[in-house]
Amino acid sequence: MNGAPTISTWYIDPDAEDAMADGHAPIWRHLIELVPERDLSGKAILDFGCNQGGFLRHLHAMRPFRKALGIDIAEQSIARANALKGNLPIQYQAGSRLPGWNEEFDLAFSHEVIYLVADIEEHAGDIWRALKPGGTYYAITGCHTDNPLWPSWRKLVAERTNTVVQDRSINDYAQVFAAAGFTVSARRLGFDGFIPYVPDGWMPNFADALDYYTRTKIVYRLVKP
Ligand SMILES: C[S@@+](CC[C@H](N)C(=O)[O-])C[C@H]1O[C@@H](n2cnc3c(N)ncnc32)[C@H](O)[C@@H]1O
Repeated sequence: MNGAPTISTWYIDPDAEDAMADGHAPIWRHLIELVPERDLSGKAILDFGCNQGGFLRHLHAMRPFRKALGIDIAEQSIARANALKGNLPIQYQAGSRLPGWNEEFDLAFSHEVIYLVADIEEHAGDIWRALKPGGTYYAITGCHTDNPLWPSWRKLVAERTNTVVQDRSINDYAQVFAAAGFTVSARRLGFDGFIPYVPDGWMPNFADALDYYTRTKIVYRLVKP
């Protein structure tokens, strides 16, 4: 039950995690709007790979939930998540497995995490066990081998972060989660806001950024029947 070893922060430069959260915030809000589950007042939520915890803080502000767990292998990022959570009903915990969390959660999310998980079959099984029957896992990633930017991105992730990237296609994820028992569907993220021009190396050509947030990023909807 050990899973991946913990790290200090995901980005080697810890300050880059604040910038990541700022960049992801509009995407989180768009994602929350497109999820059909709207009344979360009685629900328990999991955010897998939560980093500094911003997604759950946004979710609670938009759709207040009963309780939530955020989990991440980055210990300092989890410490920051705990420092920022105030009185929200959220527990942040360092790790990559979910021991003791059985049929606990109504909804699970992971935003840009599954491409970093080495044993994706094990991860699918962990989420399956952690979800209640009828629960749903939204797993979002544009970091797949169908992304035309993937060859350059996988080098950037290797250079700038403390994790190892995995090369899997959109179809690979569908197969893995279906084999774990989930009813699998997916959609393109279809972000409809203005996309900022950020020349930081990830999007050398701005046209790629426009396609990335509309077409390339995939939202898997994985239902435990
Ligand atoms: C690209 S960041 C995304 C963070 C956050 N979900 C967001 O939307 O900003 C990927 C996160 O996944 C975490 N991560 C990577 N592999 C993991 C694993 N095996 N178990 C748990 N967390 C993991 C990293 O530490 C990092 O915080």
